[in-house]
Amino acid sequence: MNPMKGKPFGEVLVRWQKQHGRQTLPWQHTGDAYKVWLSEVMLQQTQVTTVLGYYTRFLQAYPTVSDLAAAPEQDVMQLWAGLGYYTRARNLHACAKQVVARFGGQFPRTVSELESLPGIGQSTAGAIASLAYGVQAPILDGNVKRVFCRYYGIEGYPEQTTIKKTLWGIADANVPAQQPGVYNQALMDLGATCCVPRNPACSACPLMQSCVALAKGMVGLLPTPKPKKARPELYFVSLIVEDEGGGVLLELQTEKGIWQGLWTTPLEACDSQPDFAGLTRIAIAWVEHYGLQAHCADIEQQLPGLLGQPWLVHELTHRKMHFKVLRLKVPGAWAACYSVGDKPVPKIVHKLLGQVRVLTQAAVPQQNTLDLR
Ligand code: ADE
Repeated sequence: MNPMKGKPFGEVLVRWQKQHGRQTLPWQHTGDAYKVWLSEVMLQQTQVTTVLGYYTRFLQAYPTVSDLAAAPEQDVMQLWAGLGYYTRARNLHACAKQVVARFGGQFPRTVSELESLPGIGQSTAGAIASLAYGVQAPILDGNVKRVFCRYYGIEGYPEQTTIKKTLWGIADANVPAQQPGVYNQALMDLGATCCVPRNPACSACPLMQSCVALAKGMVGLLPTPKPKKARPELYFVSLIVEDEGGGVLLELQTEKGIWQGLWTTPLEACDSQPDFAGLTRIAIAWVEHYGLQAHCADIEQQLPGLLGQPWLVHELTHRKMHFKVLRLKVPGAWAACYSVGDKPVPKIVHKLLGQVRVLTQAAVPQQNTLDLR
């Protein structure tokens, strides 16, 4: 695939950068690896406009990497305060110390040596090597990923291993031998000014004639957003034992989980929706455990009727819960039953109780599941 139709990708971008890219950033055109490194670390998670003031103050306080290495950690953290992501500041200081200790105060020139330093990943290493030393090294930060995903029409979440590998392959293949620093700056500038996440300025883009996403009408769809985690579906069977005094059998939840410390009707969590045999097993175990035999002679015979109620559905943002309720009534005031109002009971149990009472009064519902609101 060569969407540039013969025009070298690198040349187009280098020409565009010189005419339309950013030229006045204070670390540009310095050939000073310390300045480039400082700006790149600051720019990792922060916009240029925010970085400018911090960059100037850092350089005033620490004109060389040796000055920074010799500074007390607290002073460095203090100067960084407000930029956020403080691991960057700790790594910055550690990196400065290593540059002094391992490289005699001169930032190394190769990507692999740069990458061996704290806080310098592959893309930052490529940026420092190309911008400061003119090394033919690729970069691939978030902006560049967006440019490539759109230009080559790459679908799939860019942080996914296979997609990332494809993107690094493209990044590697495209860096020109001539002016790799200008080319990399062009990619970053394009991603920051033209090929922005929302409402990109495609008509001003030097790559518009061969952009796959633009041709396919997919600019708004690429890069593919992070896949949302599937909402787990959980299944519970609950035993509702009610006595004639309005009491309900409750047990204290002692296990870690969302209901720890609360009282609930006996609950059994299931990995998947239990079938009739599974429900029978749970019911028989409960009857034995709570000594309910006298109140439900021949439980197996009664179960089809007892379990005839629909699954009750309770939807939360991060999970969907299904409840099957097994309801038994016991005569008198059973000692094991409590007044629900006296105990901390989760909302869902109130809902189950309310719903069960409504359902057993009404005609047998037709649907298989019922929304609990
Ligand atoms: N973001 C990361 N590096 C950058 C750079 N050198 N210029 C502009 N934005 C950047």
